[in-house]
Amino acid sequence: MKFLWGAATSSHQIEGYNTKNDWWAWEQAGHIEGSVTSGPATDHRNRYQEDLRLAKELGLNAYRFSIEWSRVEPEEGCWDLDALDWYAEVLAECEKLKLLPMVTLHHFTSPQWFSAMGDFTAENAGIKFKNYVKKIVQVLGDRIPLWCTVNEPVIMCVGKYLAGFQPPAIYQPEKCSQLFRGLLKAHVSAYDCIHSEVSHRRGPWRHHPLMVGYAHNMMDFVPARHWHPMERLLTFVARNFYNQSWLDATTGKRPQFGIAGMVPQVPEVPEALGRLTTDFVGINYYSKAILRWRARGEQFETAPGFMFGVGFSDPGEPISEMGWGFHPSGLGRMIRFVKNYRLPIFITENGIADGADAFREDYMFTHLKEVAREIKAGADVRGYFYWSLLDNFEWVKGFKPRFGLIAVDYSNFSRVPRPSAEMYRAWIEAHQAGYAPPEEAILQGVFDKYLKNKK
Ligand code: BGC
Repeated sequence: MKFLWGAATSSHQIEGYNTKNDWWAWEQAGHIEGSVTSGPATDHRNRYQEDLRLAKELGLNAYRFSIEWSRVEPEEGCWDLDALDWYAEVLAECEKLKLLPMVTLHHFTSPQWFSAMGDFTAENAGIKFKNYVKKIVQVLGDRIPLWCTVNEPVIMCVGKYLAGFQPPAIYQPEKCSQLFRGLLKAHVSAYDCIHSEVSHRRGPWRHHPLMVGYAHNMMDFVPARHWHPMERLLTFVARNFYNQSWLDATTGKRPQFGIAGMVPQVPEVPEALGRLTTDFVGINYYSKAILRWRARGEQFETAPGFMFGVGFSDPGEPISEMGWGFHPSGLGRMIRFVKNYRLPIFITENGIADGADAFREDYMFTHLKEVAREIKAGADVRGYFYWSLLDNFEWVKGFKPRFGLIAVDYSNFSRVPRPSAEMYRAWIEAHQAGYAPPEEAILQGVFDKYLKNKK
């Protein structure tokens, strides 16, 4: 199997006018920095052909994107056939360009009708989600080799019910557990549905194995002060709750979920116990997370109800437009951790917000080197998806952070690949035109040559 050299996006962040989802409603209520709204986003709905062509020109052989549930099923049980057709066209374009699609079914946004009934915390949420998944499987299933059921389930739990950066943004620890349980049930039912209903695949991916997994955000948690007992305890709990519990839950174990005295344990999900409910683990990795007891001040983010703060950079180090530092070794550590589960791994997201493109080449170089080293040491990493293919709507931060390999000018939606995109293209080309997995010596050779030519 070819190594996948790709880039990722998500529906709400690029398509434009996804007016029927919970984020759209939340944006109108002024929750985004600078009170902006996603509006036309990057106008990808009208420019997907150009975007995919640019992806191809960068040498990519894979593309991760998401389907917007609220477009496909704007009202419960009402299917928008035009919306389904549009996704069919995107998939057809991928086939034409030989960009292997990895499709995410839920990337943070839910239809408003679904969020009104309690989102994934509602008792029958799994059934509603399964109806949607079934529709996608029936209409598009034979063209999709790689599936992510949900994007970053644990971030959703934290963002919605602990730390307040996703709608409805209320501090309600019990709901956080309920959401974890609901997402797990939804994931399992989607996993089973796809495996039982996709009988064959057509087109260029017909020989590619059908794989169903998810994209899981992982952070390299460290105590701010190694001697501090509370920070050490916090670190232990955070690794367990944030990084590990979802992995355990989808590999048949009881999730060791819960934050001492804050987040209750998750009630069991019998259908997930004692069996594998994922074919791969997708790792979304960006940075380390420094935990500081009773932290206040700029360097640490905290939330009402938190007795600690989380920092994403060391004092004085360069930071991205998200305020995150650079910590490539954390990616290696996350891969080694996931390797214990003996499942194929994809790096489903890794990237930097850097409009000036000052750090992106270095960021990619150091992170890809980690991937290369872990592959050499025996990790079964099968692909790397840079986040993101193009600049986009970065949730509560609005349009300011620029993650794209391709820059978007929001005044006229023109697209221009950044210089780092050329670096990525050269790396892919040097690995047997994207056939082979990353190798440290090749990455280094191309990087050195590139820097020399730049001078
Ligand atoms: C999410 C993306 C987001 C990126 C950068 C990930 O957590 O899946 O939607 O844009 O991080 O913040």
